[in-house]
Amino acid sequence: MRRKLAAGNWKMNGTSASLPELQSLATSYPSASVDVLICPPATLLHRAADVAKDTAITVGGQDCHAAESGAHTGDISAQMLLDAGATAVILGHSERREDHGEQNEDVRAKARVAMDAGLKAIICVGESLEQREAANTLDIIGGQMSGSIPDQSTGENLIVAYEPIWAIGTGKVPTLDEIGEVHDFIRARLERRFGEGVGRSVRLLYGGSVKPSNAGDIFAVSNVDGALVGGASLKSQDFSGVIDALQKS
Ligand code: PGA
Repeated sequence: MRRKLAAGNWKMNGTSASLPELQSLATSYPSASVDVLICPPATLLHRAADVAKDTAITVGGQDCHAAESGAHTGDISAQMLLDAGATAVILGHSERREDHGEQNEDVRAKARVAMDAGLKAIICVGESLEQREAANTLDIIGGQMSGSIPDQSTGENLIVAYEPIWAIGTGKVPTLDEIGEVHDFIRARLERRFGEGVGRSVRLLYGGSVKPSNAGDIFAVSNVDGALVGGASLKSQDFSGVIDALQKS
C-alpha cells in the first residue's frame, strides 16, 4: 500500500509572517492518515521544521545543488536541507527547468545527492501546452523520466510529480482521463525499469491548479497518490481542504 501524500510548494513566497499559517496547519493535524509535506523557501526551513515538530507535517526543500559542498555561491546542498530539518526536496520543477535552464541530467545529479543524503526526491515531469497539442505528452514524460530519475531510486526515496506546465498556476486542469493516462504511463514505465515491486511502491503526485474543490475528483483517479500544490498550499484553510480530500479518498 502506498501512503498518500499532500505536498505544498510555497515557491518564492513567505517570510516570518507566514509561519502562523504553518502553525495553524500543525495545530489542525497533530496526526493524519496521509503524509503532509510543506516546502517553504529555504530561509524559513529551520523555523518551519520547529513549528511542525511532533505533528503530522514534515518540511522539505524546493531545490538543492548536485555537489555535496563547495564553491557554489547562493546554492544549497542536500546536507544543508537535511540539517535544517527537511525530509524531502522537490527537484526539476518546471520553474527551475525554465528559469535556470535545468536539464534532465542536472535533475538526475541532484536527485542522486539528495537520495545519498537520506532525503526523498520529488522529481517533477510535465509537458508544455504545445507538446500536449502536438500529441507528444507521453514521449516528453518518458524522456524526462529516463533522464531525470536515478538508478538508485526506490519506493522510499523517490516520488514522481506529474505537473503539466500549462496547468501550473493557471486554474486549468487536464481532464481526469488525461491525468489517468499519464499516471498509468508513469507507473508502467517505473515497473518496467525498476521491476514491479519498486515500480508499484513509488508514489505519484498530480500537480497543477489543485484546490479543495477539485482535489476529491483528482484523488479518485487511478495511480494518483496525492498532490503537489502551489497556490492552494499558502493558506492553511485551503491546504486543509486538500489534505481532508486526500484523507477521504
Ligand atoms: P499550483 O502550482 O498549484 O499553483 O498550480 C503547482 C506547482 O507548481 O507545484
